[in-house]
Amino acid sequence: MKAPTIDFSRKCSLPGSLVTLRPVTMADVSALHAALRDTELAVLTGSVHDRTEARHKEWSMAELEDIYRRWAVAEDRIVWAIVDHDSGEVVGESVLNDLDLGNRSCGFRIWISGARNKGLGTEATRLTMRHAFADQGLNRVELEVYDFNPRARHVYEKVGFVHEGVKRQALRYEGGWIDAHVMSILACEWADH
Ligand SMILES: CC(C)(COP(=O)(O)OP(=O)(O)OC[C@H]1O[C@@H](n2cnc3c(N)ncnc32)[C@H](O)[C@@H]1OP(=O)(O)O)[C@@H](O)C(=O)NCCC(=O)NCCS
Repeated sequence: MKAPTIDFSRKCSLPGSLVTLRPVTMADVSALHAALRDTELAVLTGSVHDRTEARHKEWSMAELEDIYRRWAVAEDRIVWAIVDHDSGEVVGESVLNDLDLGNRSCGFRIWISGARNKGLGTEATRLTMRHAFADQGLNRVELEVYDFNPRARHVYEKVGFVHEGVKRQALRYEGGWIDAHVMSILACEWADH
């Protein structure tokens, strides 16, 4: 069967049972701005070098508007707002990025604020991988996860990501060093279940 044409300017909603992934628009920026005020999120995504910085780090609305305006129409990434069906609120984002057309591969990242450990991240990851492999015809999706984030690593393994290697001392945190794990999933490994 011929693989679908990869086209990241084709941005569509991905409905699930717990969440819907909706292509991000400027209307989501204010909810994302509020959701990003989350110390644990800043730490686990490696956005800061200690908890004090995490408590004080805040994106301005203008910075986020600028970023999401570009991302909403980007041709090398798709950014979805994760909408929690329970609350109807935007609780995070799921992203396919760094598209490498020639090698039919890209990166993946995800975050959820406030509504963690309710199964939303697992479903959002599965919906994103289904889009990557079934709708876009990608061959490989890769990610990095810090060593101090076993929950994220567990979710990725559950969905079928395989550990590839370690980037040693990739993050400086609280005066020490944290390794980053590289994981990937291939089209031939992806099982939609
Ligand atoms: C990682 C993230 C997207 C996962 O989404 P989520 O909605 O919280 O995850 P789910 O509820 O779907 O699943 C959590 C799983 O981890 C398990 N878990 C929870 N804490 C854990 C821990 N400390 N160690 C190992 N597993 C853990 C849960 O038991 C559950 O597994 P199960 O379904 O097999 O029981 C979300 O927690 C998040 O955004 N975290 C902060 C930002 C982040 O870490 N982003 C990823 C950066 S690589």
